[in-house]
Amino acid sequence: MQSSVIKSSNVVARFFVALNPRKEVNAVLKREAAYFGDIVILPFMDRYELVVLKTIAICEFGVQNVSAAYIMKCDDDTFVRVDTVLKEIDRTSPYKSLYMGNLNLLHRPLRNGKWAVTFEEWPEEVYPPYANGPGYVISTDIAKFVIAQNGKRSLRLFKMEDVSMGMWVEQFNSSTPVQYSHNWKFCQYGCLENYYTAHYQSPRQMICLWDKLARGRAQCCSFR
Ligand SMILES: *[C@@H]1O[C@H](CO)[C@@H](O)[C@H](O)[C@H]1NC(C)=O
Ligand SMILES: *[C@@H]1O[C@H](CO)[C@@H](O)[C@H](O)[C@H]1NC(C)=O
Repeated sequence: MQSSVIKSSNVVARFFVALNPRKEVNAVLKREAAYFGDIVILPFMDRYELVVLKTIAICEFGVQNVSAAYIMKCDDDTFVRVDTVLKEIDRTSPYKSLYMGNLNLLHRPLRNGKWAVTFEEWPEEVYPPYANGPGYVISTDIAKFVIAQNGKRSLRLFKMEDVSMGMWVEQFNSSTPVQYSHNWKFCQYGCLENYYTAHYQSPRQMICLWDKLARGRAQCCSFR
């Protein structure tokens, strides 16, 4: 990631990490953050239900700390072709708000199993259009809207952060038109040739993907 960032001087990358129940882990995290300067430590427990709070923190950092024009949220096992994503953003209208990623339409909550969503959490039948969480981009005005609504305590939070963002963008879109930009190359399930982002990548695979890119090829690395 640092190499990508150095290549495109207009980019800032940060890892958003919340707290661990074990004190020793947090101490090591703090040291790592101090050493590399690319980690933002968030003051709550790192749990799935709270990941949506990270999304809000990412919006805040993007708007308040670095005045970013666009903010991309990724998972830590997502490999990103930063220059390619930037080019894709450049192809959209700079005068219109942007929501870019691998969009899901009319997806429904799972009501059973490990990842079940209760009717209390999500009473509606379907989710709003939303970009898959492993990698999506929003323009700064959407991030500002999220921050403002959250400041007024009127931001609805749902544990699936990507669905939450879809809901916030839908709200924003009701007063300001948003370009919904869909591309399957923001891969949700692993990696595909000519990807923009590849998901579920191990550290070894990330290095392998980077090596291939350096040779001009956006090809996958299939080993674990
Ligand atoms: C972001 O900016 C705020 C307000 O200026 C500051 O308090 C905070 O420490 C900054 N956060 C990071 C992670 O740099
Ligand atoms: C965004 O708003 C426009 C104008 O109200 C509407 O036609 C469109 O369906 C909305 N898009 C989504 C994805 O909700």
